[in-house]
Amino acid sequence: MAIISPSVLACDFANLQSEVELINASNADWFHIDIMDGVFVPNISFGFPVMKAIAKHATKPLDVHLMIVNPDNYIKACKDAGAEWVTVHYETCPHLHRTIQAIKAEGMKAGVALNPHTPVSLLEDVINDLDLVLIMSVNPGFGGQSFIENAIEKVAKLKRLINDKGASTLIEVDGGVNNLTGKKLLLAGADALVAGSYVFKSEDPTATIDVLKAL
Ligand code: DX5
Ligand code: ZN
Repeated sequence: MAIISPSVLACDFANLQSEVELINASNADWFHIDIMDGVFVPNISFGFPVMKAIAKHATKPLDVHLMIVNPDNYIKACKDAGAEWVTVHYETCPHLHRTIQAIKAEGMKAGVALNPHTPVSLLEDVINDLDLVLIMSVNPGFGGQSFIENAIEKVAKLKRLINDKGASTLIEVDGGVNNLTGKKLLLAGADALVAGSYVFKSEDPTATIDVLKAL
């Protein structure tokens, strides 16, 4: 069964506590937390004080997606704000191996996200160090964008790389995930699905989470 990580970016920020409680009570597995800096991506979401507020009420792991330059400077802040999984972007990390080790040294699980144009093959030499790879199926920065189909082929390639290297890395996909794209991604080998608007803009987010869980 897939891991479902609803993206808090699409929730009602004025009712954050009740949105967190909705996820707590649902069959979702993680909270996907999108941190944006207005530099790496052309948007700003929220920062560590908000993440801390979410962590205070969340009963499930925080899956943090850092869309920021110089993520090394904020690894400790992630730990202090309650992160369990920290994913940095390949495109922001000139010393990726060091960044991965720094995340693990804080006792957190380490992930790397790939933009739509960044090939899976670039992870060949670090795959065995990674707990998770996040395939972006939209250009990061905004919720509600349409799914880039090439992500399906990337998931299949990544699955082959993980198997070839004997790694135990999880494959997560983020952007434009719904019941249709989610199904294709799972067939290609994805383990975890992030969903923002599909969950929170639906009539019944709890039932929508169940739809994703049942794929
Ligand atoms: C986009 C974020 C996503 C976003 C997904 O940059 O990383 O996590 O919230 O939103 P949807 O599911 O609406 O595409
Ligand atoms: Zn995300």
